[in-house]
Amino acid sequence: MSRFAASVSVDPRIIEKLPKFDAPFFQAGLAGYSDAAMRIVAREHGCPFCVTESLLDRTLISGGKGRRREDPELLAQEHVEEACNLHDHPIAGQVIGITPDEMAQGAAILVELGYDVIDVNLACPPKRVRRRKRGGYFLCAPTEGVEILEAVREVVPDNIPTTLKLRRGFDDSEESVTNFYTLFDGAMDLEYLWATVHGRSVEQRYNGPSRWEFLTNLVKERPDALIFGSGDIWCAEDIFKMMEETGVHGVSVARGCIGNPWIFAQARALMDGRDPKDPTIQEQRSALLRHFELCTDLHGEQVASRLMRKFGISFSRFHSKPEEVRKEFISIQSAVEWKCVLDTYYCNS
Ligand SMILES: Cc1cc2nc3c(=O)[nH]c(=O)nc-3n(C[C@H](O)[C@H](O)[C@H](O)COP(=O)(O)O)c2cc1C
Repeated sequence: MSRFAASVSVDPRIIEKLPKFDAPFFQAGLAGYSDAAMRIVAREHGCPFCVTESLLDRTLISGGKGRRREDPELLAQEHVEEACNLHDHPIAGQVIGITPDEMAQGAAILVELGYDVIDVNLACPPKRVRRRKRGGYFLCAPTEGVEILEAVREVVPDNIPTTLKLRRGFDDSEESVTNFYTLFDGAMDLEYLWATVHGRSVEQRYNGPSRWEFLTNLVKERPDALIFGSGDIWCAEDIFKMMEETGVHGVSVARGCIGNPWIFAQARALMDGRDPKDPTIQEQRSALLRHFELCTDLHGEQVASRLMRKFGISFSRFHSKPEEVRKEFISIQSAVEWKCVLDTYYCNS
């Protein structure tokens, strides 16, 4: 398998539009996780491209909290703005919503904010979202979905690629597969640069396996389309396993990179024919410190202390005493307590 990793390259259609997207994987949109702090840490470990979490069109239009979270110009501290501008590219801003008109307005705002790619989410599964006819709902209403794709493509300038996030279907019915292809082909006809396809259905949410055979068939059925695969990528080897088994051009890394930015460095090592290395305790400490520092810059100490608990818990799996460290991270209230856990558990000596 490592021989396969050493043979992969980035599709020239991607390089042509996004020259810095120099490895065939990216950090997925992950609501509640993939803010600028997580993205910058990922990039510092070799991630070549990131997607924001899904940003609600109406929130973008009203200039609300979701927009603030993603808008470097609205971020409170100048050095955060600078860091985001310097280091958080290339990046896709992902828009989600209900009507073509509002989705197009949301996409236009993301263009104004400087995103390099506009990603349309027709995949998101939570019940709340479905009831409001967003995201994965459009796998039940593909004609409406294509109208959204059209409206977004129309407002986005030609030099900025649009991309699509989809799931394999709403459920396991045949109609669902037909609907998938209506949306997928609609995007390709409109010259969307790629589609990222999650091999779970909307109904499946995040349960059960991601059906990689669906991706294999899709690649066979649509050999000219640029396709990224998503689902069940837990370690660097999985990236290349998915590419080799299914023929997708690249892979979206999602839960596998929460508290594990090393997955990107390990993937690059495999591409270079080197053995991937587990992070040393010192490397874990540096990544935890850096993530906390960026998170504090973005959200302030109080919010960061709360937000970082879940990251600390994920990071703890690399520690030799995961349970003990996990318990410590769960109750952190401040930067001082964070530092204290690092000094107690993440020192060499
Ligand atoms: C907590 C969480 C939040 C997510 N948020 C988004 C999102 O905002 N946008 C998106 O396109 N996908 C989102 N996803 C889906 C992931 O990008 C990915 O497609 C999915 O987790 C399957 O990959 P995995 O099995 O390797 O985790 C989310 C997934 C999780 C678990």
